[in-house]
Amino acid sequence: MSEKFKALVVNQNGEDFTREIQSLDKSFLKHGDVLVKVEYSGLNYKDALILKNGAKLVKEFPHIPGIDFSGTVVESENKNFKTGDQIILTGRRVGEIYFGGYSQLAKVNGDFLVKKPESISLRQAMILGTAGITALTCAFTTKQAREELLLGEKVEDVVVTGASGGVGSIAVMILNKLGCNVTAVTGKDSNNEYLKEIGAKTITKTSDLDKEARPLDKGLWDGAVDTVGGSMLSKVLSHIKQNGIVAAVGNASGIKLNTTVMPFIIRGVKLWGIDSVHTSTKRRQFLWDEASKLIDFDLLEKSIKEVNLEELLNIFPKMLEGKTSGRYIVNLNK
Ligand SMILES: NC(=O)c1ccc[n+]([C@@H]2O[C@H](COP(=O)([O-])OP(=O)(O)OC[C@H]3O[C@@H](n4cnc5c(N)ncnc54)[C@H](OP(=O)(O)O)[C@@H]3O)[C@@H](O)[C@H]2O)c1
Repeated sequence: MSEKFKALVVNQNGEDFTREIQSLDKSFLKHGDVLVKVEYSGLNYKDALILKNGAKLVKEFPHIPGIDFSGTVVESENKNFKTGDQIILTGRRVGEIYFGGYSQLAKVNGDFLVKKPESISLRQAMILGTAGITALTCAFTTKQAREELLLGEKVEDVVVTGASGGVGSIAVMILNKLGCNVTAVTGKDSNNEYLKEIGAKTITKTSDLDKEARPLDKGLWDGAVDTVGGSMLSKVLSHIKQNGIVAAVGNASGIKLNTTVMPFIIRGVKLWGIDSVHTSTKRRQFLWDEASKLIDFDLLEKSIKEVNLEELLNIFPKMLEGKTSGRYIVNLNK
């Protein structure tokens, strides 16, 4: 690659924000000790918010967004990485307070990086991205944490809310693969066929569950992955059977949680918060190593759209308006 490289730069002029594909020099990259040739990045909702106006997460402009990327090390001053290593980066506030992956070259702190397992490609790593690694964390929390860590009963019936979303759909797939009967909660009938295809046994409409909760309701599930929050999470908690674990991961419908202590003190339900941004490198490496065993990439491929940086500029406003579906990955060589 020549010394110059292409990147998407967001800038602030007073109240206004601009986005431009620029040809930059390596000296523009100011953070970190490992230089990476980026192959793929992703488009998460958080990326779309940052592209719009920094989302109050970006502290300094000009800024290069992109919270996830995969690529190959070209220079390293970090003892754990050498030229040619293939790496994955998700979260760690890269693309927020540090320059991110919407760039053909990225410089990051090597301690943030994970070595890509041989069993998946750089492209597959970004098909998963933050959504995938979060879904893996949720599935292990809901099932393995009870069965292996707490030495509890087998987890059979589980529910996933916001099931057609990035995190939800991958959680459905993994929990099915782990042998659970998965109930997928979704707002749109048009999602039903896809959800069945990726492993949902039962489909429940969001409107049937997003209602005021009683302190305790009929025990339906041994565990849950909730990406929706708000009244949906209260309702899910009231339906969890004895000793179930609920992974609280998102707030797609709201941040308030109106519940009682009853599910916790009568049924021993555990509410387990998921934070994928600050997950340790050791845990990330474990999760990425597990990915190929639990993910059917051929199935996921059906919902993947690959775009370049120019196309990304047209797509992100649509995501913010709720007019996109499936996952977008960004090819930095396209
Ligand atoms: N804690 C973490 O580390 C972490 C990491 C990644 C993401 N997240 C959070 O997890 C949530 C899901 O992320 P994602 O990437 O999967 O987002 P996404 O792709 O936009 O999916 C969210 C899904 O939630 C459902 N939904 C949206 N608005 C809703 C509403 N008002 N009421 C009920 N359901 C609604 C929809 O599912 P249906 O179409 O199936 O109804 C939608 O597809 C977000 O809140 C995100 O910020 C957290």
